[in-house]
Amino acid sequence: MSNALPDPGSLVVGADSASVMQQAAARVAEVLADAVAIRGVATMALAGGNTPRQLYRLLSGSPHAESIPWGQVRLFLGDERWVPTDHPQSNARMVRESLLAALPEPPEFFPMPTDLADTAEAAQAYRDALAREAPPETEGGLPRLDLLLLGMGDDGHTASLFPGTRILDARETVAAVFVPRLAAWRLSLTLPVLNAARHVLFLVTGADKAPMLARVIGEGPCRTLPASLVKPEDGVLAWYVDRAAAARLEDHSER
Ligand code: 6PG
Repeated sequence: MSNALPDPGSLVVGADSASVMQQAAARVAEVLADAVAIRGVATMALAGGNTPRQLYRLLSGSPHAESIPWGQVRLFLGDERWVPTDHPQSNARMVRESLLAALPEPPEFFPMPTDLADTAEAAQAYRDALAREAPPETEGGLPRLDLLLLGMGDDGHTASLFPGTRILDARETVAAVFVPRLAAWRLSLTLPVLNAARHVLFLVTGADKAPMLARVIGEGPCRTLPASLVKPEDGVLAWYVDRAAAARLEDHSER
């Protein structure tokens, strides 16, 4: 089966990770500025893990630190590990270090609370925060995030939506999930929220992701490949990948 995307415009391939992150940063700046111009505020959920660090550093430096209206941006997390906020594995810590620390006018940041009694309480607290700071806009009462940044694991997960986990069927906006593969708890936005976003931007780099990227783009959507279930109902999906990750895709040209 061809791996060509239905909409070739939704795949941006950079010669290397630096190139594709620069292109992603420009797109993030454009989407945020447009959202603020239209609605006076922009809501963005951030990907965790290692890949987006480079992007966040670009966004925290010139010209994006000055050109993006950060004072009107509200930042959320797509998912979080169930660890203390100062833990090396904390996504909130990674965001603070790579994005917020260097911004002259930091945006409002709503990290997922990992200092509460348990993950159920934390998931409820984040559902409340999301409802307060990104008010429901769809008929089903979901927020429509202006921009959602996502990564992809080599097992096809995205956010903390791992293959074979019950969170794939969650209907609430935020849920806790135990991930057997990691023997760890996570908090995550759920598929209804991801698919209600106005813009979804996947960031995937490195040769180790090439086999899974080809499957997610070529075979999806299917539950064994959760990243392939992200299909914004009324939004724009784009993949920002480097040449190494795109190696198994057909019909792509670098930008
Ligand atoms: C997380 C992420 C997760 C991540 C993928 C890819 O908290 O780990 O949200 O979904 O995007 O695991 O991680 P890398 O970018 O580190 O490869």
